[in-house]
Amino acid sequence: MAKEIQTIGVLTSGGDAPGMNAAIRAVVRQAIVKGKNVKGIKRGYAGLLQEEIIDMRANDVSDIIQRGGTILQTARCKEFTTEEGQQMGAEICRKHGIDGVIVIGGDGSFKGAQKLASLGINTIGIPGTIDLDIACTEYTIGFDTAVNTAMEAIDKVRDTSTSHERCSIIEVMGRGAGYIALWCGIANGAEDILLPEKYNYDEQSLVNNIIANKKKGKKHHIIVNAEGIGHSASMAKRIESATGVETRATILGHMQRGGSPTCKDRVYASTMGAYAVDLLCKGKSNRVVGYRDGEYVDFDIDEALAMQKDISSYQFEICRNLSL
Ligand code: ADP
Ligand code: F6P
Repeated sequence: MAKEIQTIGVLTSGGDAPGMNAAIRAVVRQAIVKGKNVKGIKRGYAGLLQEEIIDMRANDVSDIIQRGGTILQTARCKEFTTEEGQQMGAEICRKHGIDGVIVIGGDGSFKGAQKLASLGINTIGIPGTIDLDIACTEYTIGFDTAVNTAMEAIDKVRDTSTSHERCSIIEVMGRGAGYIALWCGIANGAEDILLPEKYNYDEQSLVNNIIANKKKGKKHHIIVNAEGIGHSASMAKRIESATGVETRATILGHMQRGGSPTCKDRVYASTMGAYAVDLLCKGKSNRVVGYRDGEYVDFDIDEALAMQKDISSYQFEICRNLSL
């Protein structure tokens, strides 16, 4: 029978996301309740390789559930993508008595967890990214807060866009994925949304839509553009000269990653943190936690990484209809 886990390490990796602190808090406290020791690994895999490892007690995670960012800091670490880096990481875990690691991050971070698992360290991944681009789960930590932050910002741009009767192109984050753009497109009543998964580079159709809306008496034209398409400033210039409608570009940027997590992010992140500890306590490894069809679930990391998900074509299509 596999040796029972005694000490759990927890790290955050890749881009930070509001709700990561709630997950860290849940890992620490659920582990303590289950009689385990907990060690915080700072700055993701970079901190693991530098042995930035601290003991964590229940009161070390006091007063953090409401805070954005991650108290453990986060990083991207090239060295950990190499075999030598991964072996060193596993050895450092053993040296510190860490027999299970909970990795809060995105697909890249899960690949690191997969490698640690293959080297004998039990690992569990928790989906943490504002991008919602993890195929095995309908929920990722931080998306809800980020999309609400972006929505509020777009409402503000819309006010001034309406006063000046302008077209506004607002660029939202998401790396290669268009989930934030799609949700904002619907929530903000955008006239157009540009998503990497659906974009056909037909700028003429945007120009025609702006002119048609102007004729109908619309006082603004909001285009939510996903970061994966980008080039909002040059697009604004081309659109202005083709339509004669004053056009401005706003790139929301990193403000979308900050701020106090929403209730949903706090609750889901807390549940996933506790669930990850329970998996380790059951002797599970190389798993990733997900949320599907109203249930918290877990998948083999290899299978999770091979899954695909697509943006809803229906929601994409109705977005323009609803801004008629
Ligand atoms: P995310 O986890 O949000 O997808 P990244 O893709 O930047 O973010 O990955 C975060 C970190 O995970 C990387 O900096 C690296 O340390 C680790 N990582 C990414 N890909 C691999 C890989 N193939 N093998 C091992 N570690 C990886
Ligand atoms: O993955 C989260 C994310 O915020 C993406 O939306 C964005 O493309 C990227 O991280 C930005 O990364 P950085 O903080 O390194 O600029």
